[in-house]
Amino acid sequence: MKIGIHKIAFYIPSCYIELKELAQARNVDADKYLIGLGQQQTAIVERSQDIITLGANAASQILTKEDIENIDLVLFATESSVDESKAAGLYLHRLLNLRSDCRVVELKQACYSSAIAINFAKNHVKNTPNSKVLIIASDIAKYGAKSAGEPTQGAGAVAILISENPNILAIEEQTTFISEDVADFYRPTNCSFPIVDGKLSTTTYLRFFEIVYQQYLLKTGFTNNQFSAICCHMPYAKLGQKALLSQDVPQTILERYEYSKYYNKFIGNIYTGSLFLSLISLLESDESLQPNNRIGFFAYGSGATGEFFTGVLQPNYKQNLNQEIHQNLMKNRTKLTIDEYEALYTDQEIILNTKKHRFELEKIENNVRYYQKQH
Ligand code: CAA
Repeated sequence: MKIGIHKIAFYIPSCYIELKELAQARNVDADKYLIGLGQQQTAIVERSQDIITLGANAASQILTKEDIENIDLVLFATESSVDESKAAGLYLHRLLNLRSDCRVVELKQACYSSAIAINFAKNHVKNTPNSKVLIIASDIAKYGAKSAGEPTQGAGAVAILISENPNILAIEEQTTFISEDVADFYRPTNCSFPIVDGKLSTTTYLRFFEIVYQQYLLKTGFTNNQFSAICCHMPYAKLGQKALLSQDVPQTILERYEYSKYYNKFIGNIYTGSLFLSLISLLESDESLQPNNRIGFFAYGSGATGEFFTGVLQPNYKQNLNQEIHQNLMKNRTKLTIDEYEALYTDQEIILNTKKHRFELEKIENNVRYYQKQH
């Protein structure tokens, strides 16, 4: 039985900044951000959005009534959790009117948890063929104003519907993975920003890619010509390219990597959603891909875990993408000045004329979160 990605869409905040303006404000050569990191813009989250609304907005764009009736498991992957106990997916369960006999959990292991969500969802559908699993990968990446990580921030959510006979991508069985206790990036309870050893995080990412990729080739007997493209977790666009170059992959994979950063370089790092934002980028911008092409995925979560897995494009995948929705989201963003961004960032009073979202955070009162649906 084929199981995999039936539907996929992302959602982003409605504000962004230009990294060349950030570079100017930080007295840094703009080419460091634009060329050295490969990023151009970064999504900035407005006060009406959090990981729950971003996730609910992402999912509501693609779910039909029939999907809602068939979802019996929600896996909410995040490293920007709003609660130590309650799963963020429970708020989303109510906002989307999901059925009551639906399991809801939150998964955590830095940016990696969305990849294990795919694996859990696949096994769930294998055991319960008619069910559908909703995966939400939603994060707000903040490193602190003027920190080294600032140009690699971002915010957004990806919603993925997993089912049998998927329209977009069938996930294959073989996978290779690695876990190791590494202090490259972590956010202890009660810390607003992560503690980051930037150099260690990049070297661990590259080391893990080499290990799981080479193990995958050994395990399956594949050569690197059997992939049409490889999507990588993308904290910034340059890093995945470095990983691929280190393994001497064919030129076509390097060329297709350029397509896989299409949205990421304007949105920034969305942590758990980043790998799948890269998949959406690739599928919606590379006209040369064909059904039956095999795509490799490198998932990485600091701390650290890495995994390599693959999927095969399905016959009608092109007709089941959501380019128009995504292009409109990108078009309807408001550019903030660096002063406006800093005011928003540091919780100062500021009025922004941004668009309304279907789901918004109304207020947090006595630690209770109140949401509203606009339309
Ligand atoms: N023109 C062109 N390139 C320039 C340049 C210029 N004027 N100035 C610098 N560069 C290049 C540098 O040579 C460097 O490229 P190489 O790595 O190829 O040498 C690149 O720009 C970045 O420069 P630095 O390494 O000096 O940058 P930095 O030390 O200020 O910080 C960073 C870079 C470590 C990525 C930092 O932004 C950071 O800590 N980010 C957050 C952590 C992160 O994203 N880590 C990635 C792996 S961890 C992960 O994947 C999980 C996750 O999502 C967080």
